[in-house]
Amino acid sequence: MSSAPRTYTLALLPGDGVGPEVTAEAARVLDASADAFGFGIEAGEYAVGGAGIDTSGDPLPRATLDACLDADAVFLGAVGGPQWDRVEADLRPERGLLRLRARLGAFANLRPVSVSETLAARSPLRPERVAGTDLLIVRELTGGIYFGRPRERTETEAYDTMRYSVTEIERIARVAFQWAEKRDGRVSSVDKANVLASSALWRDVVSRVGAEEYPEVALEHLYVDNAAMQVVSDPRRFDVVVTGNLFGDVLSDLAATLPGTLGLLPSASLGGRAGLFEPVHGSAPDLAGRGLANPLAAILSAAMLLDALGEPEAAAAVRTAVDAVLADGPLTPDLGGDAQTDDVGAAVADAVLSPTLSHP
Ligand code: NAD
Ligand code: IPM
Ligand code: MN
Repeated sequence: MSSAPRTYTLALLPGDGVGPEVTAEAARVLDASADAFGFGIEAGEYAVGGAGIDTSGDPLPRATLDACLDADAVFLGAVGGPQWDRVEADLRPERGLLRLRARLGAFANLRPVSVSETLAARSPLRPERVAGTDLLIVRELTGGIYFGRPRERTETEAYDTMRYSVTEIERIARVAFQWAEKRDGRVSSVDKANVLASSALWRDVVSRVGAEEYPEVALEHLYVDNAAMQVVSDPRRFDVVVTGNLFGDVLSDLAATLPGTLGLLPSASLGGRAGLFEPVHGSAPDLAGRGLANPLAAILSAAMLLDALGEPEAAAAVRTAVDAVLADGPLTPDLGGDAQTDDVGAAVADAVLSPTLSHP
């Protein structure tokens, strides 16, 4: 490995609600990992979502998009909130995020979910069912019903279009199979092929890609209703789950019941030039401004960012630090603690800087 100093340009998009609170902690941990592992970070902050609407009338202002297209990686907190819920559909905060994902070409959304013994003990589900869960949801992110045309709302009706091309399905299937090769060699493809034409195509294409290119990976197909039931009743049966945009959105929030909180689930969206890293959760208006949000989903998203930058040792150090904090605290209320968002971020950053202090 070269030891030449390296500096990465990051675009930080704190967004709305708890977004700025958890982004501050992710940035603190990224800075700590840069200090500990000898690289530089040049981070600029840009408005997105409701913050973009309020500052420049656009949920994805031009300056924000340009900065993201120039960055080595993009980190986003969360967007949305009740104050923008009445905004016209194409100008909502969420639309800014969707446009950003599309413009970055970030079609492969990786949402890992793992449950240690410690977390299983706090799960709302039976600990003996969820302990040892280690699954990866590979969600198609720039197609499907989120983007399909036509899409219209009139006075008397409204419709969306769930549309997938062979090319879109092939490329997300390859991502899933490649992850399975590095993991436990199993892919579960989730669709609604018994009802939807786009899902019938999905199933055929995933089967063909698997058979032709990844014959050593075990492939199964599940209907999404059954998959939802299995995710909570028998989560350890899953290794890699590949699915479309809408089903992946729902299944990933459902999977948050396994560790017991959305405040632990990170994500990485890859496929374009710069990756986009964001917690799975939203702006949590019920927690915003009170220091109650768990920053670990954001911090674990920062670990995925470090992996994508080619800093695997720093990423591993962040994950080790998170594990130490999960074992010994401090923890936010969603995990049964009474610590504040910044207490948790500071503890993770300290453990990254002085790993021996937390692991004597
Ligand atoms: P949400 O994810 O914001 O909150 C759902 C539940 O999870 C709430 O009870 C909340 O308190 C809890 N929660 C969320 N994050 C948490 C954290 N870090 N620590 C502890 N608990 C946490 O979903 P919602 O309430 O349906 O949506 C609120 C707003 O966020 C909406 O405007 C929605 O469109 C938006 N949203 C944005 C994103 C994103 O930016 N990626 C994702 C989902 C929802
Ligand atoms: C997510 C969110 C987004 C989505 C919204 C805010 C557009 O729920 O990242 O899971 O549906 O993809
Ligand atoms: Mn979601």
